[in-house]
Amino acid sequence: MKNSLAVVTGASSGIGRAYALFLAAKGYDLILIARRSEALELLTKEIKEKFPVNVEFLTADLSNRDGVDSVLAKINNRNTDVLVHAAGFGTRGHLADLPIEELEKQVYLHDVTATLLTRAVLPGMTERNTGFIIFISSMAAFLTTAEYPVYSATKSYLNILATGLRDELAGTGIKVQAVCPGLTRTGFMHTEYYKDFDYSAVPDMFWMEPEEVVEESWRRLTHRYKPVVVSGRMNRIFLNTLQFPVLGNLIRTLMGRASRRRVAKGLPPAF
Ligand SMILES: NC(=O)c1ccc[n+]([C@@H]2O[C@H](COP(=O)([O-])OP(=O)(O)OC[C@H]3O[C@@H](n4cnc5c(N)ncnc54)[C@H](OP(=O)(O)O)[C@@H]3O)[C@@H](O)[C@H]2O)c1
Repeated sequence: MKNSLAVVTGASSGIGRAYALFLAAKGYDLILIARRSEALELLTKEIKEKFPVNVEFLTADLSNRDGVDSVLAKINNRNTDVLVHAAGFGTRGHLADLPIEELEKQVYLHDVTATLLTRAVLPGMTERNTGFIIFISSMAAFLTTAEYPVYSATKSYLNILATGLRDELAGTGIKVQAVCPGLTRTGFMHTEYYKDFDYSAVPDMFWMEPEEVVEESWRRLTHRYKPVVVSGRMNRIFLNTLQFPVLGNLIRTLMGRASRRRVAKGLPPAF
């Protein structure tokens, strides 16, 4: 019998890579997408050695229409059962200072690509009345600070998109989820933007492994489904605390004040 098919963007590293391995272990055939072909080739080899599934990869820059079109051509006429959109990157800096091209790519990659890929796979899923669509969003969708408003806004878009689609797809077998990790040990911070990142500012208990993010995301698709899922107990406790009227306001005020103070002193953000 033919295996089901999963399409994973951002599969060359971090959470996307972990999702690809997880789905291969579950018996899904895979189409892996990212820009680094060498990493995709190595992962393809690793998966084929470990699991009895078919794996193809596609090298594409998904921060523009040409890259997205190449994915659409690849998945056209194929039944996609799972779509994971993990491709993404962080920016860190004042909006007025960030390169215009970087901002444009970020908004396109996180939001336009998520929307167009979802648009491409939904008709087939609707016909078969089954499918999972997973956007890797972020805790940043719920709180922002200086130097992160655009990144946070792109992730809020994914949460809203998943929530609206939950309603649009009610009564079908299709589930859309925006999973919101907090700090996760991946390649995300191995960039110029994060070269002065103060790791010690965040206690160890708030860090997660990509595999933990993936397992929880999948569990919440199949049990007690919600369109927006915050990864990890500590992250959920932190966000819930922010909802308390007095304590939440106090924490938000202190965080905002600390952020503005660092900006005034010309220091990078604490996290
Ligand atoms: N790590 C965290 O702390 C954290 C927290 C919250 C949310 N997230 C989100 O998690 C998602 C996955 O990131 P990660 O943490 O796993 O980081 P990562 O290890 O850096 O992985 C990012 C992936 O996105 C791909 N990618 C980046 N730009 C791309 C482009 N223009 N076109 C196609 N693929 C592109 C990268 O592949 P190539 O470079 O090969 O193209 C890589 O596979 C991101 O959306 C990120 O915003 C991460």
